[in-house]
Amino acid sequence: MSRYYVTTPIYYVNDAPHIGHAYTTLACDVLARFMRLDGREVHFLTGTDEHGQKVEKAARDAGVSPQDFTDRVSRNFRDLASHLNVSNDDFIRTTEPRHKACCAELWRRMASSEAPNGESNIYLGKYAGWYAVRDEAFYGEDELTTGPDGRKRAPSGAEVEWVEEPSYFFRLSAWQDWLLDHYARGNTEFVGPGTRRNEVMSFVRQGLTDLSISRTTFTWGIPVPGDPAHIMYVWLDALANYVSALGWPGNETDPEGLFARFWPADLHMVGKDIVRFHTVYWPAFLKAAGLEPPRRVFAHGWWTVEGQKMSKSLGNVVKPAEMISRYGLDPVRYFLLREVPFGQDGDFSQAAIVRRINTDLANDLGNLGQRVLSFVQKNAGAVVPEPGPLSAEDRKLLDAAAGLLVQVRGDLVAAQAFNRALEAVFAVVAEANRYVDSQAPWTLRKTDQERMRTVLYVLAETIRRVAILLQPFMPDSMAKLLDQLAVPADARSFAAFDAALRPGVALPAPAGVFPRYQDMAVG
Ligand code: MSP
Repeated sequence: MSRYYVTTPIYYVNDAPHIGHAYTTLACDVLARFMRLDGREVHFLTGTDEHGQKVEKAARDAGVSPQDFTDRVSRNFRDLASHLNVSNDDFIRTTEPRHKACCAELWRRMASSEAPNGESNIYLGKYAGWYAVRDEAFYGEDELTTGPDGRKRAPSGAEVEWVEEPSYFFRLSAWQDWLLDHYARGNTEFVGPGTRRNEVMSFVRQGLTDLSISRTTFTWGIPVPGDPAHIMYVWLDALANYVSALGWPGNETDPEGLFARFWPADLHMVGKDIVRFHTVYWPAFLKAAGLEPPRRVFAHGWWTVEGQKMSKSLGNVVKPAEMISRYGLDPVRYFLLREVPFGQDGDFSQAAIVRRINTDLANDLGNLGQRVLSFVQKNAGAVVPEPGPLSAEDRKLLDAAAGLLVQVRGDLVAAQAFNRALEAVFAVVAEANRYVDSQAPWTLRKTDQERMRTVLYVLAETIRRVAILLQPFMPDSMAKLLDQLAVPADARSFAAFDAALRPGVALPAPAGVFPRYQDMAVG
């Protein structure tokens, strides 16, 4: 069976979960669910990034020990995954023993290997330069700007501070050519979308400097093997989660182990702000340790809120739990992945989400299901109708629905184009609504009942295909719709996509799946 390993970034525990975190996790959930339905063995990982200066400071501000603090906040992210109905197979915390052991071994392997220029991959030196705690990143002088307050800032807007301390370095400078070759190799592009790939390539072409990978001025982290005065750079520690969660290095030689089965990862989903860590540092670290790099990294865009950057100081942070209680979980899942071309930035506004709920979900899909199924209930004996001979219009709609699996698979698997996949499915929903109007089953009821049953059958079949394909996006609502079509649980995977509804099967009384937004507010 073919396998699929998909990961979210692990979230910093200095902050409460917001809609940006929910977005990354949901995108991965849709892929994981899609691949499972498509017959693949899936491993879907998420978790929390718990070390480093930023988390240490947040714990200090909260007046608790870093361990107590991370135990508490990590739970919020675990809860978020369950509120979002996310189907992750594992949740990794970087404070777990399995992770610490993996980091130590990764370090040892990097330290005992040679870079492409024949020098050792890790060496001891002294770091003198700028560091942004908010980004947990080092910056060159040339990358900084000076704000109106005279303070220097990173390109992300984060404040930087001058750091001078002994540090181990990773010989990143020697990996430039290997990285550039790597970006050009393979049939799947290593970095998506193309704009990010170009950015990464031009960053690497400009020349890489060696990377500081240990710190000595604070203690909340994983000690460097053999030199515990140093703790590992939090990004080296964090990136290693993708292999520590697979049980590496303990199961390295076990062909049945998670590592052998799932590494290299098929996809690391990340936000655009953390592309460099995943596409430059991480493949080089892995290669230095003798491990394969992941197959692909895809960077999505950022959400603003009602046109403004989301920030605690503006007080406009969108909390997933509030959105879910206001709009319902599946509508939020749908909106986030439908509204914005995946990879670009988007704006979260009340008007936009209400428009999507009322138009796409309530009017188009919800109404299609409701009017067809209640018509069948009242006028076709509450069973899957028996079709007669098919007309050209019937075939056209059925073919459009049948063609969706290949189209959606292409959009999601190769390009992570969630919005395009949804657009294609909803184009068929719109076609089905036009077909209802043009075929007018309510008129046929009086004039030609056999033709009426054919029309209803074609519609029910179309709804079945649409509902099967939308399961990864809106699992609960589509389960309800498939229940209403009496599709058995074992006929909901993509292997059963072509297994048409059986005429004569009894259908339960239908109930609306997607209420309009104002109705929800009243109810
Ligand atoms: N801990 C690191 C990742 C380590 S992975 C080995 C980190 N954590 S984070 O909590 O700050 O961010 C996690 C993800 O949330 C990132 O992919 C980031 O892009 C995403 N988002 C944070 N704010 C966002 C928006 N406003 N909009 C969309 N996604 C955003 O970085």
